[in-house]
This record gives sequence, C-alpha cells and structure tokens, in this order.
Amino acid sequence: MNANKALWEKGDFTRLAATMRESGDELIAGLDVRPGMDVLDLGCGDGTTAVPSARRGAKVRGVDIASNLVAAGQARARAEGLTNLCFQEGDAASLDVIADQSVDLVVSIFGAMFAPRPFDVAREMVRVTRPGGRIVMGNWIPGDPTLVASILKISAAYTPPPPEGFISPVTWGVEANVRERFGAAGVAAERIQCERATYTFRYPGAPAAFLGLFRDYYGPTMNAFEAAERDGRRADLQAELEQLFESQNRGDADRTEIPAAYLKVTVST
Ligand SMILES: C[S@@+](CC[C@H](N)C(=O)[O-])C[C@H]1O[C@@H](n2cnc3c(N)ncnc32)[C@H](O)[C@@H]1O
Repeated sequence: MNANKALWEKGDFTRLAATMRESGDELIAGLDVRPGMDVLDLGCGDGTTAVPSARRGAKVRGVDIASNLVAAGQARARAEGLTNLCFQEGDAASLDVIADQSVDLVVSIFGAMFAPRPFDVAREMVRVTRPGGRIVMGNWIPGDPTLVASILKISAAYTPPPPEGFISPVTWGVEANVRERFGAAGVAAERIQCERATYTFRYPGAPAAFLGLFRDYYGPTMNAFEAAERDGRRADLQAELEQLFESQNRGDADRTEIPAAYLKVTVST
C-alpha cells in the first residue's frame, strides 16, 4: 500500500479546495501565465491553480497521486470546456511520463511538499523544466502560528509517530531545506527565491463548521481524529482545533475568512 496515496484518497480534498479558489486565482494572476505556455501543476488536487492557468490559455497538465482528485479535476475541466487542461495520476517524486525540459512553468501549491523523497521531487521538477522556465512552490511553514501549519502540528500530536525515516512535508517550508534540495538538483543559489506569502481560506459559515470540513474530509486531520478517538482524546482535539479556528478567523460568526502564511518558492531554470 502507498501510504502517501492512501492519505489523500481517504478524504475529499475538493471540499477544502472550494474555500481556496480566490487565492488560487490571485496566485496564478501574478505568474504571467500566457497562451500556449506549457504548465505542469504538481499535486494539483481538483485544479485550484490548474483551472485558472488553463483559463489564461496555457496548455496545462495536472498531476496528482489521488485518483479521486484527478477525476474531480477532469470533471471541472469538462464543465468549463477547457480542452487545454488534462489531469492524470502520478507521483511528484517520479514523473517518468514527462519528458526532460518540456515545461515552461511548474506550479505546486501545497502539493509536491506532501510527496516523500523531497530530493527526488526537486530533481524531477528541475528535470522537466525548460531552461528559462520557472518552478513555483507553495509550502506550509513549520512552527508558523497560522492555520494550516497549526492544524498539521496539532494533528501530529494526536497521531502515532510516523515510520522511521519519514521526512515531514513542512520541512519544505524552511528556506535552508529548499536551497539544499534545489541545490542538489543543480540549481545555482541565486536562482532560488523564497518569500512569505498568504493564502486566504473563505467559507460561508461559522469557523466551527469550517473545522468540520477538515475533520471529515482532510486526510491528516481525519487520521488525527481517528487516533484521538482510540485514545479517548477526541474532545480535546476538537476543542484545541476549535480554539485555533476561532482565533484565526478575520470574518465574523457566520462567515469564516482565515489568512494562512506560506513560503512561496520561485526557482528560475
Ligand atoms: C493540500 S492538497 C493541494 C491541492 C492543490 N494543489 C490545491 O492547491 O488545491 C495536496 C495535494 O497533493 C497531492 N499529493 C500528495 N502527495 C503527492 C505525490 N507524491 N505526488 C503527487 N501529488 C501528491 C494530494 O493528492 C493533494 O491533491
């Protein structure tokens, strides 16, 4: 069993993705995506960034390890009549189906960071990108007090320890690791740029209801609730997360709006 694939097929990330569309659109609007460009969206989910790239006329391929999310992306592309957008199953750490130097822009927003073997992931992203192209990653930052880094940290405290050798996805949110991984893939230091940026979650309901989406549909949080249930600590986890969601909400009691910080990485090839 591939635990990485099972984790993301377990829930239904489309339910969370629906609250992230505006930030996805904004991010793509800032990347100068042009008609005819070859774009690879890695860990694309149901296309939060792949769809707006395709709307701009790029030829977009979304790759994701979860078959349910690939199907959801295909349905969105069909519904919008985007014939320049395709989705397929694949692993960010081994992109065998994608030729060397065949892509102008690799986008991976909270996607490739979740693949095991981060050095292989960096090498594959560099391999498929043309000289003069770009790789843009969004990575949650370990220890950051905003929403997703905190959810992952709290969830980990209720979940059994990962197997020996497991490298935490949020290590991609540390600039030194990013530089080491892309450096090992042959990228010169001056071609790697890291900055803090913000993604905003918008949900038309109370923060506690928004938390319900994470509890019921987001693999890492689902696992934490299952483990907490076994340990008789479910109410503690619920309370800790409710406090987090309430304190992060910049909307009001009936409308959740939560900004979350991430590390935006831009690599010029
Ligand atoms: C937090 S979601 C983000 C999805 C999408 N990028 C977005 O912004 O909505 C993480 C995504 O990474 C995918 N993923 C996790 N591990 C992967 C891997 N090894 N290769 C490709 N995709 C992966 C998951 O299936 C999931 O769709």
